[in-house]
Amino acid sequence: MAASAETLISDQHKLIEDEWTVVLPRRNNQKRKFPKLKPAIQQQTHWTPADLETTPERELQLIQKMQNSIEKLENSRFFSVFLDQIQTSEASNHFDNLTGSEHKLKMVIYGIGSIESFESPRLQLSLAILMKRKLDWIGDMEVFDPVISLTESKVMEHLGCSVLSVNEQGRRQAVNPILFFMPHCEAELYDNLLKTNWRYDNLNKIILFGNSFEKYEQHGSMLGNPALLDSRKHILAIQPFTKEFEICTVSDDYYRAFQGSSWHFFSVQPDTNLQLAF
Ligand SMILES: C[S@@+](CC[C@H](N)C(=O)[O-])C[C@H]1O[C@@H](n2cnc3c(N)ncnc32)[C@H](O)[C@@H]1O
Repeated sequence: MAASAETLISDQHKLIEDEWTVVLPRRNNQKRKFPKLKPAIQQQTHWTPADLETTPERELQLIQKMQNSIEKLENSRFFSVFLDQIQTSEASNHFDNLTGSEHKLKMVIYGIGSIESFESPRLQLSLAILMKRKLDWIGDMEVFDPVISLTESKVMEHLGCSVLSVNEQGRRQAVNPILFFMPHCEAELYDNLLKTNWRYDNLNKIILFGNSFEKYEQHGSMLGNPALLDSRKHILAIQPFTKEFEICTVSDDYYRAFQGSSWHFFSVQPDTNLQLAF
């Protein structure tokens, strides 16, 4: 398993945070009660799988399951529509801006879930693997989810992924262009990623596959809940600078794994004053 040295520089996050104007909510004399959110565990920690039991049979069985899933997806209409969407002139402009250099883009996969227990994570990992096989601008694939077992970790390595041995909490810096593949992650993980890269040049180097940011914005229940707003403040603040392409699930077979997912691209000018105005 590979640790990522890029992510262990936590002091830089504080510096980045200080560069932006943070507009605090107005004080209100009337005291209102809101449910407290559980504080997220935010430290980047060394990680090893909790489930260390494995056998060659169990690994082989999971490799077989993954191969079936990759084959099913590769021959599906969902996948051909997915590839067509990347190649439409509007979307391909955004991809080309970041993939034009001689370097291949790293793909960082967070929150994939258990590929042994559930079909959605298997289909999601299959999509990442097929993208790597079909798109020549995708380079190394790194994966992390704290729920991954030793069996799953070995199978992912067998399929060409490096499993990280550090829980980065989503705080990878986009020093070079990176594709973040984060299917159905918690909002806090997207927010951590944005916060870590909260400067125009880093944000502009991110391609993000994940839950639709537009839908977070449209979610009415957040409005009366400052704690919830606070945990998503970067997602909401980046909205005016985001171009989003919704993934079309096409058939019921792929609905659960990909519903509500979008590609996101950020376009921030050097002189933009990004405000966290909540
Ligand atoms: C809502 S689940 C989605 C799982 C799967 N992608 C799916 O669609 O079924 C969110 C996943 O994020 C993972 N997660 C939580 N904290 C994480 C972290 N710091 N880094 C990467 N993944 C994390 C959880 O373990 C969980 O598997």
